[in-house]
Amino acid sequence: MKSLVYLGPGTKAVQDRPKPAIAAPTDAIVRIMKTTICGTDLHILKGDVPSCDPGRVLGHEGVGVIDQVGPAVTAFKVGDRVLISCITACGKCVYCRKLMYSHCTTGGWILGNRIDGTQAEFVRIPYADMSLYHIPDGADDEALVMLSDILPTGFECGVLNGKVQPGNTVAIVGAGPVGLAALLTAQFYSPAEIIMVDLDDNRLDVATRFGATSTVNSGDGKAAAAIMQMTGGRGVDTAIEAVGIPATFELCENIVAPGGTIANIGVHGTQAPLHLERLWDRNIAITTRLVDTVSTPMLLNVLGAHKIDPQRLITHRFTFDKILDAYETFAHAASTRALKVIIEA
Ligand SMILES: NC(=O)c1ccc[n+]([C@@H]2O[C@H](COP(=O)([O-])OP(=O)(O)OC[C@H]3O[C@@H](n4cnc5c(N)ncnc54)[C@H](O)[C@@H]3O)[C@@H](O)[C@H]2O)c1
Ligand SMILES: [Zn+2]
Ligand SMILES: [Zn+2]
Repeated sequence: MKSLVYLGPGTKAVQDRPKPAIAAPTDAIVRIMKTTICGTDLHILKGDVPSCDPGRVLGHEGVGVIDQVGPAVTAFKVGDRVLISCITACGKCVYCRKLMYSHCTTGGWILGNRIDGTQAEFVRIPYADMSLYHIPDGADDEALVMLSDILPTGFECGVLNGKVQPGNTVAIVGAGPVGLAALLTAQFYSPAEIIMVDLDDNRLDVATRFGATSTVNSGDGKAAAAIMQMTGGRGVDTAIEAVGIPATFELCENIVAPGGTIANIGVHGTQAPLHLERLWDRNIAITTRLVDTVSTPMLLNVLGAHKIDPQRLITHRFTFDKILDAYETFAHAASTRALKVIIEA
């Protein structure tokens, strides 16, 4: 089967690989219908993710059809259409029992990282009963691909951890797919203001269309002053970091109001400064989280009720034989205006 394989920092290739086989009774084999590329796949290709070894098939998002099930799988049968979660959960370990699936002792974020992923014709899904979801009749496959990772990440790590409340003021730093997913799902709670921050004016325009009440281009280095002015000198109740670099975490520290929350989403590869000399008396909270995908059933309901339209995040479509072009398009978002790219089998 055709697969997109990570070959070490800076290199990837489409290779022919054997079709995966059931390795444990709780496994399922899924034939991929649609997959996509994540910012985290680009982090892997830069060499930022040491757990991912060369030779790995990438991808942790997608929808497909069950091709085979192990004898212990009870919730799915051959032919079922399924949404694949980016997080694999055994459902039984100490962390799964706390609904912290991201830290499952034999699962977590393994797909397209420690085991072969979804950018292929078939993928093996361990703990299929806990790690797949039935696709409701009539649901849009492409919109569902946004539920593998992006929507639960923006919602759980940004909106829930950030305690977004009705009438509150929110800033989201980073208007990539994850920041935009936080923007879409923050609106479940009717915050009074959502200020979106990015360097890319195209993404800020998208954010305005998605419901941001104001936008700030931080390219001039004066974003903190602008946001303090917009909020009457108070700052924001929730500052969501959706980039993953020291400068954007520091911006969140500079704009959080007394009593507020900094909710970090970004994957950080270097140390970010923590200004306790300014923050110690401000009653703030700082949260971090690897997405658990515990909100996926809720998000499926919201999608089914047409209360959210994540399909708006999709800008480009490719067939699998053009997956290298899809990577080029996704990696050069400033010129291609790409958000999420769909890759079809
Ligand atoms: N915690 C988790 O479980 C989890 C899950 C998925 C993704 N992530 C991480 O979330 C982050 C965002 O993901 P994404 O796919 O949206 O990434 P992305 O790279 O597409 O988006 C990042 C955005 O930040 C903007 N940006 C860059 N530097 C900036 C700066 N100095 N000031 C303001 N904006 C700036 C970019 O223009 C871009 O629009 C990444 O770090 C990703 O690895 C975390
Ligand atoms: Zn991802
Ligand atoms: Zn577990």
